Amino acid sequence: MTTSTVPALPDGVTVPALRALALSLATEAGDVIRTLRPERVTVAATKSSDVDPVTAMDRAVEELLVARLTTERPEDAILGEEGDDVPGTSGLTWVVDPIDGTVNYLYGVAAYSVSVAVVAGPPDPAEWTVLAGCVHDVVADRTWSAGLGEGATLDGVPLPPVEPAPLARSLVGTGFGYAASRRAAQARVLTQVLPHVRDIRRLGSAAIDLCLVAQGSYDLYYERGLNPWDMAAGSLIAEEAGARVVGLHGAAPGVTVTVAGRGPALDQLVGLLEAADADAPDGA
Ligand code: IPD
Ligand code: CA
Repeated sequence: MTTSTVPALPDGVTVPALRALALSLATEAGDVIRTLRPERVTVAATKSSDVDPVTAMDRAVEELLVARLTTERPEDAILGEEGDDVPGTSGLTWVVDPIDGTVNYLYGVAAYSVSVAVVAGPPDPAEWTVLAGCVHDVVADRTWSAGLGEGATLDGVPLPPVEPAPLARSLVGTGFGYAASRRAAQARVLTQVLPHVRDIRRLGSAAIDLCLVAQGSYDLYYERGLNPWDMAAGSLIAEEAGARVVGLHGAAPGVTVTVAGRGPALDQLVGLLEAADADAPDGA
């Protein structure tokens, strides 16, 4: 649990109420995805590159989330991965990823999630305060949630404290971007991390990756190029479970590089990534 101060909220709004709404939205969306996933999923469009797909379900679930939010919280803004952005007047923004792990969803690999968070301040990881968040793992039907200063839970049960592991025995999650030049740079950085750790995992859903750090299933996680919706809910869940979520060179975590973990191993991983120039320009 963090001791972060909750900023002034609009009248009648509380962190527990926001958390309950995030949980209800993410689990309802997850039920829809589980029930309606067709046997054969097809690509509806591509985004940042030919290998960055969007499916009809990504769009339908974002529409569902936006419809629910505009009814329940009409004064709040919405920032969604599929672009259904809505302006607001309350100073709060819902940051939503209808399917985090779309490539897994497309191929039927069992690691994709719905991520719903609400932030105060600009919806930018360098400036926001995440108030509440929920990540629902669709296939496993498990749900992590957190509220600022309230701790983090898995299926309603508080996550227990996790003992930090030494770097050499750390299981490290990571991910890769969709641009070829970024991937080449990420592969180079990986060669400088892998010799120092137990092993690497590339699950394909950054939101679940951060929750795995929260519950201690991963010791560490790092990735370059996350978008706000990939990390909003998961970063709060990790921090409320006692992990630290940081950037390189003292910067905030965010689109450049996000690193999560505990103890000295986290600082050592940051050191390895800085030495490998993991945030150097890569043409993406
Ligand atoms: C992606 C996943 C993946 C991460 C990428 C993200 P998407 O989100 O979180 O694990 O490596 O950086 O873009 O495209 O499946 O919503
Ligand atoms: Ca995503």
